[in-house]
Amino acid sequence: MKAVAQEVLFLTDPQSRDDVASLAWPSNVRIEALDASRPHDNTDFKVIVVDADLTCGSTIELLRQTLKSVDRQIPRHFAVNQGRRIEVVQAQVLGARSIRPRPLSIEDLQAILAEAYGARSSALAEEPLAALVTTTHTGSRALGGVFDAIQSGGMLRRSELESASEDIADAIADDGIASWLEAVRAHHQGTFQHCLLVTGVLTSFAQALGMSHSDVSLLTTAGLLHDIGKAMIPIDILEKPGALSQHEFRTIAQHPVIGYDYLLSQGELDGVILDAVRGHHEYLDGSGYPDHLSGSQLGDVTRILTVCDIYGALCERRSYKSAMPPEKALELLESMANAGKLETALVKALRRAVLPA
Ligand SMILES: [Fe+2]
Ligand SMILES: [Fe+2]
Repeated sequence: MKAVAQEVLFLTDPQSRDDVASLAWPSNVRIEALDASRPHDNTDFKVIVVDADLTCGSTIELLRQTLKSVDRQIPRHFAVNQGRRIEVVQAQVLGARSIRPRPLSIEDLQAILAEAYGARSSALAEEPLAALVTTTHTGSRALGGVFDAIQSGGMLRRSELESASEDIADAIADDGIASWLEAVRAHHQGTFQHCLLVTGVLTSFAQALGMSHSDVSLLTTAGLLHDIGKAMIPIDILEKPGALSQHEFRTIAQHPVIGYDYLLSQGELDGVILDAVRGHHEYLDGSGYPDHLSGSQLGDVTRILTVCDIYGALCERRSYKSAMPPEKALELLESMANAGKLETALVKALRRAVLPA
């Protein structure tokens, strides 16, 4: 009898392995406990499923080491404890394509397999803009790559970033910014949701202004990279729903410099992207951070990123807050422009990009 190829790698904690293995999984699933002494040969799998404790530092490190050798094109699906946003963010950093309740059910695994093998899951089949949703996952994987790179001190994978930027620009040109924002909000959470929203807003801004292909690509890439420094900020501060203490604000306010320093160390990245990453929380009146730059000290890409970043943040949907409607968000930006913090012409251009006549 021919052996069934084991194409699904199911990674779990050592203490959960026996419980997981006792369930009636399909025969092409190989269940393995995360184990530092036994490196995994991951090359032939079509799908990776992770059902492990994402609050445990050593488990996360083992996962990072294990997943490092896996092609990022191979979809990674995570199960997390419900209501644990910290675990959701950690799964995203590790490149999650989908996040489901823990422990993973056989029904959920079947849905994952259906998608992996081309028979799309019923949820995806009903999605009117399935290609757009797929592109949001491509963007999320690219973000996972850059967050992983800075956290591990590794090299930025430029080709993955550039190819995700191209896909995002094509998707927004085809389907429009409103659909992009909705798809991102429906399928992504936390910092990755924010980064994907800001990226889309930047892309749409560039396209609406009729910028060249290379400039659209530059702004899209700047969007994906702009908050890379947040990878080094403790998640409980980053994801805190309420007001930040002074100490917490000082901690989070380090992210532009952390991101800038890392990208500088990578070389070959366009200088305007570096300046924009460092300067995207500066204001024209000098009241921003980290360098309190003002007026002509702030370049065009930095000014554009600042406007799009704020708009993206207002559009975010979180468990504790709904997205601000576009008109209200634009009014808020206009009031900031009137106060001398943002460039009025850029806010007007953004209005034309996100609310076309
Ligand atoms: Fe930021
Ligand atoms: Fe941001």
